[in-house]
Amino acid sequence: MREGGSTNALLHAGRSRSSFSGKMGYVLAVAGSAVGLGNIWRFPYLAAKYGGGIFLLVYLILMLTFGYALIMSETALGRMTKKSPVGAFGTFGKGIAFRLGGWINAVIPMLIVPYYSVIGGWVVKYLFEYLRGNTGILAADGYFTGFIAEGVSAELWFLLFSIAVIAVLFAGVKQGVERVSKVMMPVLVILAVFVAGYSMTRPGAFEGVKYFLVPNFENFSWMTVVAAMGQMFYSLSIAMGILYTYGSYVKEDVDIEKSTSQVEIFDTAIAMLAGLMIIPAVFAFSGGDPDTLQAGPSLMFITIPKVFASMGFGTDAGILFFLLVLLAALTSAISLAESGVSTFEDQLGWSRHKAALLMGAVMVVFGSASALGFGVLDFITILGMSILDFFDFLTNSLMMPIAALATCLLVTRVVGIDKIAKEVEQSSGFKRKGMYKLFMRYLAPVCIVVILLSSVANVLGWISM
Ligand code: TRP
Repeated sequence: MREGGSTNALLHAGRSRSSFSGKMGYVLAVAGSAVGLGNIWRFPYLAAKYGGGIFLLVYLILMLTFGYALIMSETALGRMTKKSPVGAFGTFGKGIAFRLGGWINAVIPMLIVPYYSVIGGWVVKYLFEYLRGNTGILAADGYFTGFIAEGVSAELWFLLFSIAVIAVLFAGVKQGVERVSKVMMPVLVILAVFVAGYSMTRPGAFEGVKYFLVPNFENFSWMTVVAAMGQMFYSLSIAMGILYTYGSYVKEDVDIEKSTSQVEIFDTAIAMLAGLMIIPAVFAFSGGDPDTLQAGPSLMFITIPKVFASMGFGTDAGILFFLLVLLAALTSAISLAESGVSTFEDQLGWSRHKAALLMGAVMVVFGSASALGFGVLDFITILGMSILDFFDFLTNSLMMPIAALATCLLVTRVVGIDKIAKEVEQSSGFKRKGMYKLFMRYLAPVCIVVILLSSVANVLGWISM
């Protein structure tokens, strides 16, 4: 079995089990995979839907405690074993529990990337329309709903996006992703600050700023916590094995505690900027109509075009914005699909091309179902959700908590928390060790189980949250 995950190629072409070039290289690579549609598309709609400021507060608390503990664990386990998740779990035992623990981590990205690419296709479509100067058309009421309901066109844009991803995987990714991220991230930040500033100063937008930033406990529900936890996993790329793989490339002297904080700050800053672009705009352009706040996955595609249409130079802003979102989505989709490909290569011993073809097939099958789920397949709902929403729910609310639990159990029951602490302490002061231990031992497993059970009970309609 070849032990190096070929996600490697993303980072440093042509070296076997290499390390990152330096501390900054690692932070950039992780930040590049972390910042994507999760920050710009997913975070704002969840925040809008699940209570605004209270969602933000719960999210921040979870990230600094739970998220921190899990990132540290996954990275340390990766660095310790020098393996991707299936191999890392396998290092500590051969039983069925170890295989399941490794595989659930490895399968999640394979189920995310198909529907992720559907959203990627929507982004390409919007970019295309802005390039044609259709700024007003995109901002019209009902445009987006009409577009996804039409189905076939959404399917074609999805295929275009997927072909780009598969083509890159097929070619073998050189340092492209890292290089693109380096240029793209600063431009994205500047543009986001600019659009957020514009959006926040529209008449009526201030209510939205308040809704997003000031916690209102009346808006709290259990679903706030469930959604915030899923989003935290998603946005930081945790509970899906990716950080094991990245950790396995980290040199012994990289301060993983510090780099974890940097990645968290960066990722959250982008998500909050996206929230400040979109949520105030919802209030300004729809009078805070609660139905718009409930819009879900379509929110970005409905409000951002309205903001741009109201600006003098909206077409240019639209082109730039959707181009950047597209790049962020592409780099993330490539890393997600790459992690699937490397699992196939490592575990099935397949060639890169064969592995990439299988990943492509998975993307086309599940992605097409998700893309058409708003159109010709809209009679199919699973537990009351559209196909795309169902995949999102399945991975984020069900599988990721289980994957996170598997990591907790591996750390506390098998490897031993002190051994992980030692691994971290090789390179870091580990200032938050006390909190880390408390979380991994008690709080994290208990919270995960409670949240998992409540989200299952919720979809089955046993409780309503
Ligand atoms: N974090 C990415 C985002 O916010 C999505 C993502 C989740 C991801 N898991 C990943 C990207 C693994 C790359 C690798 O959009």
